[in-house]
Amino acid sequence: MAEDSKPSRRTFLSQLWMGAGLFLSYGTAAFYSLRFLSPRFKASQPRRILVTSADKLPPGASTTFKDLSGRKIVLVNSGTGFVALSTTCTHLGCTAYWEPDKSHFFCPCHNGYFDVNGNVISGPPPRPLDKFAVFVDENDNVFVEVREA
Ligand code: FES
Repeated sequence: MAEDSKPSRRTFLSQLWMGAGLFLSYGTAAFYSLRFLSPRFKASQPRRILVTSADKLPPGASTTFKDLSGRKIVLVNSGTGFVALSTTCTHLGCTAYWEPDKSHFFCPCHNGYFDVNGNVISGPPPRPLDKFAVFVDENDNVFVEVREA
């Protein structure tokens, strides 16, 4: 007597559920693995960094700090408000310096000049310095908003 080689309905449904469960498990694992391994799939989150208090940074003064990814940012009191700019020159990536006596940024690599808002005054830089939002709270704490990489 020949056995029936067709799977029963119960066997078929249990295999279908098992396959769906494996697909979801491996799919979820693959999604999070790719997200972990490839930072560009991560949505960058804004984060406010406490830099100083307003009374410690008089007009013309500046302070430099690094964000979580090690990027150098300079916070300047322009006299009319606070400005936060990347110190990385937009020409070839040298470090630009704030010169308080001349109220501009200077990049010594190829004589690039930027105004207090990071706009190019002269030299080869093709665009302004990267700018970051600045917030001052009710206690005069100065925060700079950066994006996590
Ligand atoms: S790298 Fe700054 S001017 Fe060239």
